[in-house]
Amino acid sequence: MARINNPLRALAALAISLAALVTSTITGDPGPGGTAPVRPFRLDQVQLGNGLLQEKRDRIKEFVQAYDERRFLVLFNNQAGRPNPDGVEVPGGWEDGGLLSGHWTGHYLTALSQAYADQGEDIFKTKLNWMVKELALCQDAITARMHDANGTKGINSTSSAADWVPTHPGYVGALPEDTVLRLGPPRWAIYGSDLSKNTWAPWYTQHKIMRGLLDAYYNTNNTQALDVVVKMADWAHLALTIGDKNQPGYTGNLTRSDLNYMWDLYIAGEFGGANEVFPEIYQITGDPRHLETSKAFDNRESLFGAAVDDNDILVVPADRIPGRRRAQRLHANTHVPQFIGYMSVFEHSGEQEYFDAAKNFYGWVHPHRHFAHGGTGGNYPGSNKNSELFQNRDNIANAIAEDGAETCTTYNLLKLARYLFLHEHNATYMDNYERGLFNMIAGSRADESSTESPMLTYFQPLTPGSSREYENTGTCCGGSGMESHTKYQETVYLRSADGSALWVNLFIPSTLEWAEKGFAVKQETSFPRADTAKLTITGDGPLDIKLRVPAWIRRGFQVIVNGIPVSDATASPGTYLTISRTWASGDVVEVKMPFTLRIERAIDRPDIQALLWGPILLQTIGAPPENQTYHQLSLYSHLKLDGDYVRAATVQLSPKGDPVFTFASNVGNLIARPYYIGDTQAASAYFRRVEPNIVFGSLDTKIANRKRNDGLPRYDVPVANVTSPGNDGPTFLDVVWDSAPFETHDAFVRTVNDVVKSFVAQGVFTQEEGETIVKGATDAKDGLEE
Ligand SMILES: *[C@@H]1O[C@H](CO)[C@@H](O)[C@H](O)[C@H]1NC(C)=O
Ligand SMILES: *[C@@H]1O[C@H](CO)[C@@H](O)[C@H](O)[C@H]1NC(C)=O
Ligand SMILES: *[C@@H]1O[C@H](CO)[C@@H](O)[C@H](O)[C@H]1NC(C)=O
Ligand SMILES: *[C@@H]1O[C@H](CO)[C@@H](O)[C@H](O)[C@H]1NC(C)=O
Ligand SMILES: *[C@@H]1O[C@H](CO)[C@@H](O)[C@H](O)[C@H]1NC(C)=O
Ligand SMILES: *[C@@H]1O[C@H](CO)[C@@H](O)[C@H](O)[C@H]1NC(C)=O
Ligand SMILES: *[C@@H]1O[C@H](CO)[C@@H](O)[C@H](O)[C@H]1NC(C)=O
Ligand SMILES: [Zn+2]
Repeated sequence: MARINNPLRALAALAISLAALVTSTITGDPGPGGTAPVRPFRLDQVQLGNGLLQEKRDRIKEFVQAYDERRFLVLFNNQAGRPNPDGVEVPGGWEDGGLLSGHWTGHYLTALSQAYADQGEDIFKTKLNWMVKELALCQDAITARMHDANGTKGINSTSSAADWVPTHPGYVGALPEDTVLRLGPPRWAIYGSDLSKNTWAPWYTQHKIMRGLLDAYYNTNNTQALDVVVKMADWAHLALTIGDKNQPGYTGNLTRSDLNYMWDLYIAGEFGGANEVFPEIYQITGDPRHLETSKAFDNRESLFGAAVDDNDILVVPADRIPGRRRAQRLHANTHVPQFIGYMSVFEHSGEQEYFDAAKNFYGWVHPHRHFAHGGTGGNYPGSNKNSELFQNRDNIANAIAEDGAETCTTYNLLKLARYLFLHEHNATYMDNYERGLFNMIAGSRADESSTESPMLTYFQPLTPGSSREYENTGTCCGGSGMESHTKYQETVYLRSADGSALWVNLFIPSTLEWAEKGFAVKQETSFPRADTAKLTITGDGPLDIKLRVPAWIRRGFQVIVNGIPVSDATASPGTYLTISRTWASGDVVEVKMPFTLRIERAIDRPDIQALLWGPILLQTIGAPPENQTYHQLSLYSHLKLDGDYVRAATVQLSPKGDPVFTFASNVGNLIARPYYIGDTQAASAYFRRVEPNIVFGSLDTKIANRKRNDGLPRYDVPVANVTSPGNDGPTFLDVVWDSAPFETHDAFVRTVNDVVKSFVAQGVFTQEEGETIVKGATDAKDGLEE
């Protein structure tokens, strides 16, 4: 029975035009960053070498390889009315038929394509191709229900789950199409678990599947995956314009106001980076509707405009909630990915406000809500107990709650930092990326094999004495974790769009094959277990190599080309050093970047500190004593002019080469070790600094090491029982040692003198006390020199 507007025919026509478009309309390179001034390499152009990250990767690859991929199709087949083999079970967790089902299928697709790109083992591609083919069949079966002879009722199906007819063609999912459409008008479904009427994060789920398909296309050239994802995008456009048209009470196309209202529903607005995929599909197909779809996700009632204006409203007082529907505290992993999507819109539309919004938003998270392990988000006294939400601005010490720092939020923060870097090349983004990668991401995987469980973290609490828990089949963090550990090589190298420069961002053993340019680079390093790297160049010709000089460098950074040191005059930490030369095969670049042991103070409470070894956060092992919230350490008496806290510890290497530090504390020896170690030991990421007197080496001036009043803490939204602004600040010795390393003892005394002057001027010390302090610093010469 022919219908005049046969959508199947329209789809077939689109598929044909798509095939033509794929090769003809691409501008730039496919994928994120494809139009940026600095661009990524394809994942298969970089191979990860042996070391810490390869160990983590291999454990996840073992899990991904062993997993029965048919389990990811069970729920999809049910919705498509297709049979499932006997005895194949759904993955479980949130991938159990409940309202988030389908997201893990997408994560698994991404993990498979990344695992394949990495070392080219056929098993990953075989699994991937099978899944894509099955998803395509599910998509066709669902759409076909719109056109059966009678046009209204479902096909003869093996499962009652398939007894629904889609409103728009192209949908595929592990749940009925209705679970997505009901989010909007006229029903405005709310968060909950009732399959027949509630919603969870339907666009989040669609996004993960679409991302997985796009990654299959980018990483393995699977064109069927592209075909399926373009049809999903066509469906999404109809779903977000025409919407739920078969519902009683339907009043017409969705308006901007409807969309804004949808995205402000708690969690349902967690559309992940759904907006990120559509501009990419626009680039591939040339169809401007997909760019429109991406903008449909703009959160313009309660966040977008504030981000453009750099007005931080992630947490607001109860009486100043913007918009009709948003919560007082925003959900971290809902919003970080939105801004990834805005970067995607910016890349393909050039509209500056999207870039500004993303950049400003990132600035609200880092440094204002950024923990030492690279994470963000958590509770604080007086807030509701939902650790997935952002803490108030500038709250670190009072947000070290029992939970906090969801792992998938860090996965997304890294994506956002990388995206911003491609456009702005500010080294700070890479310092943050490195911090998150080597700590929270590496630390999210348990250091043991399992083919039953991904053994990944959800929250990574900072509470003193807490331990990590690993598992997470079916959760957001388990899904993004499968991705994180199969793409460790993605940001090691970047290239300028014109091919004139190679950016070396991370010290990770790896080999880059840059065939288009005729260069290969082999990077040998045991970083972060060692602080040197060696790059061997194959290829001849001019090229700028831009080498990252990490912000954590304190002294001794050196770059040596073919045995000759490159002037390090311009190598200031937190920048890139450019080596411009005509390279010849066999050229060797050696990088020496001595690690020092440093402390980082919480921005709201200076005596709450973290220990860092290069980019690596060190955790003290065990729970603090019962009468202390934190482990306590006194360290200043150990310091020499170089300011390296390693002088306060003894260091030993574990059999794997991980440094283990031993400090003397008021309760005996304290052991500290790298955060990336993945076990369930109770540990603390922050400790409390106790420095009662002004000491210089063993010389005790007997003068109290008083604090400067910096008005800390200073929160934008109050914390119960904490005065803000307060009167806390760094101690005298904190301020002095912030200027380390000191070239000479004289330079040290000059600094002490300057700090004394400013503390005396502020009334912290009397003139006499100041003189005693300067005298102490002068007399302590022998104790301070190395
Ligand atoms: C389609 O309509 C025909 C004729 O009215 C009827 O016999 C048949 O059962 C209908 N099929 C379905 C699937 O509803
Ligand atoms: C079609 O539906 C009928 C009636 O419910 C059922 O008897 C039959 O087994 C179904 N056929 C298939 C292939 O599912
Ligand atoms: C995909 O195609 C590109 C371009 O033809 C090619 O360079 C790349 O090696 C292919 N990737 C895979 C995994 O086959
Ligand atoms: C509703 O949306 C559809 C699909 O995008 C579009 O073709 C149509 O013009 C819109 N209708 C109105 C009244 O805006
Ligand atoms: C604030 O202090 C009061 C009095 O000590 C206490 O009862 C209350 O529980 C505290 N509130 C919070 C949120 O810690
Ligand atoms: C890089 O970003 C940081 C953090 O936002 C900022 O302080 C710094 O000024 C920026 N550097 C440059 C060169 O723009
Ligand atoms: C905690 O208890 C230990 C051992 O009893 C004692 O040495 C220490 O001073 C106490 N610390 C505090 C902060 O009360
Ligand atoms: Zn998560």
